[in-house]
Parts: sequence; C-alpha cells; structure tokens
Amino acid sequence: MAAEITHKSVLLPETLAQLAPQPAEIFVDCTLGLGGHTEAILQTAESVEVIGIDQDTEAIRLASERLAPFGKRIKIFHANFSEIIEVLEKAGVQKVNGVLADLGVSSMQFDDARRGFSFRFDAPLDMRMNADSDEETAAELLERLSEEEIADIIYKYGEERMSRRIARRIVWKRELGEPVTTTRELAETVEKAIGRGKSKDKIHPATRTFQALRIAVNREIEILEKFIKDAVESLKPAGRLAIITFHSLEDRIVKQTFQRLAGKCECPPRLPRCVCGAAKEIEILTRKPIVPEQFEIAENPRARSAKLRVCAKI
Ligand SMILES: C[S@@+](CC[C@H](N)C(=O)[O-])C[C@H]1O[C@@H](n2cnc3c(N)ncnc32)[C@H](O)[C@@H]1O
Repeated sequence: MAAEITHKSVLLPETLAQLAPQPAEIFVDCTLGLGGHTEAILQTAESVEVIGIDQDTEAIRLASERLAPFGKRIKIFHANFSEIIEVLEKAGVQKVNGVLADLGVSSMQFDDARRGFSFRFDAPLDMRMNADSDEETAAELLERLSEEEIADIIYKYGEERMSRRIARRIVWKRELGEPVTTTRELAETVEKAIGRGKSKDKIHPATRTFQALRIAVNREIEILEKFIKDAVESLKPAGRLAIITFHSLEDRIVKQTFQRLAGKCECPPRLPRCVCGAAKEIEILTRKPIVPEQFEIAENPRARSAKLRVCAKI
C-alpha cells in the first residue's frame, strides 16, 4: 500500500498550526485525497475525530487503508464537498471545530495514466475526479461546446492568451471528423496551434489547456463560493476554515468570498448608506496567504503555487 501513497501533503505543519486541533474536537477534511492532512490531524490528540470527504473512489480506498488504525475516529464519505451539509447530517454531526479543503487533484490522480489528467501518458481524455459519475468527460465537452465556449474556458480557467487559436484547431479537427478524444491528441493539437513557445518557457505548451479543461469538467470554480459559505455555516463559533489553492483564479475567489463574509460592504460608493446587507460572519486570520517555504518547494515542486487562507467563525 505504501508504494501507492505518492502524494506529499502540501503546507502540512502550517495547516495544522492554523487548525490547532484540541482534544475531543471534530474536523471535516473535504478533500481527503490520500489522507495525509487527516492523518496528521488525528495524530494530534487521541480524542480528535475527522469526517473525510472525497469524490474519487480510488482516493477513498487508499485513504481508508491508511487511516484504518484510527478506527471510529475517522468517518469517510464518497461525496462532492459541495454536499458538506448533507454529509454532516449523515454523520450525525451538527457543527464542527474546523474544515479543511486542499483543492485540485492529487499526485496520485495526476500520475494515473488511465485518468486522462496528464499529457505525459496517452489515455482517453476523461479528467473526471469522480470517475463513477455520469458527468461529461473532457472529450465529451470538446465534442459538444462551440468554438467560442471552448476558447472562453481555456482563457478563463487556463489564463492562456492563445485560447482562440487552440479552440479553432480543436473545432477544425472535429469538423474533419477527427475529434480530439485522447490526451496525446489534445497535447499535439495545442502544440500545432501555438507552437512550443519560447525556449525559456519551461512548461509544456498544453499545460494551461489541460488545467482549464480539468477545472471545467469538475466545475471546480462554479462550486467554490457556495462551498465556502456552507463550510462557514457548518462551523461552531471560533471554528476555523482553511483552504489551500493552487492557482490565482481559485485564490481570488477564496479571498473575495472571505472578504464578503467578513462584512466588506459591496454597495456603490455613491450610496449614502449600506444596502447590500453586509454582515460580519467571520474573521480573516491570514491577511496575506501563507505560502510554502523554499525547502518545501524544492522537495515537492507541486507546492510552488500553493496558498493557504484561513478564517474563523465569529
Ligand atoms: C490535493 S488532493 C488532497 C490531498 C490530501 N490533503 C492529502 O494530504 O493526502 C485533492 C483531493 O480532493 C478531491 N477533490 C477535489 N475536488 C473535490 C470536490 N469538489 N469534492 C470532493 N473531493 C474533491 C480530489 O479527488 C483529490 O483526491
């Protein structure tokens, strides 16, 4: 089993310090993954409990094995974290002391050739974190959407300046009766559309397009704001919500949603008094996000873009 645990938990001591588990407290790990953060939380005190959520059955299988020694102190649910309130109901818990979300895919998912997340392997273009769902795969999305919609996704979620050229080529292939259905085909299509880029640009030209499609397939941005509100709703007073993001779009949503929940008025400046109903539900504990130390990035390059933001319910 140990050989399969390929994911290194990001910002682990920093996250633990922020959640600061105390005996008998209950936490929700909304992105259980391979259980690295949860294991560390459970090790802090004998009576701490964790409710773990993941939408990936393979992650659940591996985490269940790893966390089995903690017995009844860990309850695991196969669900989307957008259903956090329903999961807590099922677990028979009303409010918790802390919630953690370590967003995105795990290295285990990324390194699994069959899942279609990476251009390093040739595989069907799937990219669903919940491979058991009947949601659209990335290939189906590229088959259905218009050229403009594909370009918008690649631009918005991948911050790819050459999104229009890429979308044009994807749709051109589709019209020729050669739709893009595998990771290799997508990587080649992107490369043909925009070239290899400048030699000092170290990332593969398809990196941003792959990221964008993964975010779209899993509706990662769409569900984030509502999730933050539901997570705050699930906290006891003084309970903490910690969120680790890996790209600027996610981080912006976390930052702005925290600001809104911290009572920032959103009325136009010309109004004499506030009418937007801004109310202070949380206190922001990280004015600036916590980022990994250089040594963590050297050991785990995936950590380089990680940002941790934390708030406490009032
Ligand atoms: C970065 S990994 C978490 C790694 C974990 N913290 C650890 O230390 O092992 C992210 C995990 O969250 C899951 N995930 C991402 N979005 C999700 C969502 N909306 N609902 C449930 N699980 C999600 C993924 O399937 C993946 O297993």
